[in-house]
Amino acid sequence: MDTNKTMAPDYPDHLWRPLTQHSPLRGASVPIMKSAEGCTITAANGSRILDGLAGLWCVNVGYGRREIAEVARRQMEQLNYLAPIMSCEPTIQLADKLQELLGFPCHSYFSASGSEANEAAFKIARQYHLQSGKPGEHRYKIISRYRAYHGNTLGAMAATGQAERRTGSEPAAPGFLHVMPPYPYRAHPKLTPEEHGEECARLLEEAIIHEGANTVAAFIMEPLMSGGGVIVPPDNYIPLVRQICDRHGVLLIFDEVVSGFGRLGTMFGYERWKEQADIFTFAKGLASGYAPIAATVVKEHVFEGFTGAQDSMRHLRQINTFGGHPVSSAVALEAISIVEREKLADNARDVGNYLRACLAEQIGEHPYVGDIRGLGMITGVELVSDRGTKAPLGDPVVMKILGACLADGVLLGRNANTVPGRCNVVLIAPPLIVTRNEVDRIVATLAKALKGAI
Ligand SMILES: Cc1ncc(COP(=O)(O)O)c(C=O)c1O
Repeated sequence: MDTNKTMAPDYPDHLWRPLTQHSPLRGASVPIMKSAEGCTITAANGSRILDGLAGLWCVNVGYGRREIAEVARRQMEQLNYLAPIMSCEPTIQLADKLQELLGFPCHSYFSASGSEANEAAFKIARQYHLQSGKPGEHRYKIISRYRAYHGNTLGAMAATGQAERRTGSEPAAPGFLHVMPPYPYRAHPKLTPEEHGEECARLLEEAIIHEGANTVAAFIMEPLMSGGGVIVPPDNYIPLVRQICDRHGVLLIFDEVVSGFGRLGTMFGYERWKEQADIFTFAKGLASGYAPIAATVVKEHVFEGFTGAQDSMRHLRQINTFGGHPVSSAVALEAISIVEREKLADNARDVGNYLRACLAEQIGEHPYVGDIRGLGMITGVELVSDRGTKAPLGDPVVMKILGACLADGVLLGRNANTVPGRCNVVLIAPPLIVTRNEVDRIVATLAKALKGAI
């Protein structure tokens, strides 16, 4: 191998892009994005894209907020970095703010990404049981759900239930297993939504019993499964999961990396089902994409499991260099205050309902549209080649539809690399500030693309 050879001179640049096959980029020029404001990204050539995905469903307050930039500048001048074992005001204030918003006593451990927040949650769950569990227990297993995405680090990827996403990085970290999530659109037709919710909860309980409850540390789930295809659980599922976890001494982790900070039409996803987890993870909307920051928030009974004598080795043995970064913390505080001031969770709920009503009206009868679902400002449109059999629409057609939307200036996504042959859910999750006019444009563009795909 000639390691001195200059790297790939025929590619447009030396950037290795995520989730991207680079071969088609050989000799191609790549559009460069230059700036953004509100829900719109502007390319270097002046063309404008309506971002129907809020980046990676994270820019909740929209692009170009000067008040956040000002907070970041001030914090950088004052204290640009602090080792996280030391304390500074923005980070303490952010932890206090999370407790105020969540409404129960809790402690927050900060890191820089959703994957890290989930890794921390898994380690916290394991160490908690080691220190607080009953004699004879060795609780280390983490149960998660098929289709779910929990991140790209080895533990978070092991919890991820997406076969395509894991291919190539396996074998996965040991100690993780999966159960089926509720999936109302594809549930057995004879089951009512409640019966389906009950059945899926029962599958979780069976998994815990069959694994041996004394080996299971935690169950992780998103309140609404986002990247797995926008799957809203039946109303009884989450309360039943809470009961099962309590019955078997299993910690419940809510991954609110996507659902936190207004996206589901409530400040947090769990509010809708009125059930709390023992551990919550937040990232994307925490600072609305203006700075990398994530939080693993534990309720007090979990935190207490880590207290003890100075030399007891009960402290959390975990640190992230950029955890609780002063600038990211200050930025997060400002982003959260915008969500509150501008009542963006309410806007997400109202305009999200409007979006789904428009979709139902304009594309609901299209032969490729199997299901339109979502909550707040997160919507999935499941595409099928046959509405009777619900056979998923093939990848090339789904890609053609998304390509046509982008050509018309609207960026939408899909549940990429989820289950082989089932990456057929179009994802719509614009910033929470999106207007009805912008929603009209998203719906009209998708309707036109669907028409052209027949
Ligand atoms: C539900 C969920 N959890 C965790 C993650 C991982 O977050 P990050 O990409 O910041 O590591 C994601 C990312 O999309 C996510 O959607």
